[in-house]
Amino acid sequence: MADVTVVKHPLVQHKLSIMRDKKTSTASFRTLLREISLLLCYEVTRDLELTSKSIETPMEEMDAPTLKGKKLVFASILRAGNGLLEGMLDLVPSARVAHVGLYRDHKTLEAVEYYYKAPTDLEDRLVIAVDPMLATANSASLAVDKLKRSGAKNLRFLCLLAAPEGIEAFQAAHPDVPIFTAALDSHLNEKGYIVPGLGDAGDRMYGTK
Ligand code: PRP
Ligand code: URA
Repeated sequence: MADVTVVKHPLVQHKLSIMRDKKTSTASFRTLLREISLLLCYEVTRDLELTSKSIETPMEEMDAPTLKGKKLVFASILRAGNGLLEGMLDLVPSARVAHVGLYRDHKTLEAVEYYYKAPTDLEDRLVIAVDPMLATANSASLAVDKLKRSGAKNLRFLCLLAAPEGIEAFQAAHPDVPIFTAALDSHLNEKGYIVPGLGDAGDRMYGTK
């Protein structure tokens, strides 16, 4: 089974509460999402391997720690994934980026694909797929399927809110992919929305409703 990490940092929890509030404006929602994504990125990369290289400080030579291996890949599940992506790129500007365009059919709740573009050499890189919401997990599961078909072997999934139903479905589909989330909510309602949730993440980010 894939493991689940709930990031309980007080700043994450405080910012998330403001985002959940329906009175929070579109502009504030976007700003908070970008800020939270920095903190979540810190957690999802906490155990990256280090190597060392010799550098000279103004005082002396030293073996200084640097990240080992190839550049990371962040895979944004459009549209709302871009809200997490931007803050993560603030923290790791050298990361490569994959875009997976999916929307949820409102009747069937199936994920419908409309775009896919990823770096060609995913095999040797850590790929972190990002989407604020893990509801039924249809979108996240399809996105990870596609990334695996493109060669990704070492994956993590990062979201803001997860429903228990989504965690169970994602773990069944991708038991090898650890999940990182800022909160584990109560359940999905009859329309597939996370409760208590924050509403439709894409609409709240871009003011489309
Ligand atoms: C939202 C969200 C996820 C998906 C989660 O996207 O950003 O991608 O729903 O639901 P699921 O786990 O049941 O698949 P949406 O389809 O609304 O598209 P958008 O990001 O373009 O708004
Ligand atoms: N997608 C969203 O944006 N919000 C939900 O609660 C569920 C899916």
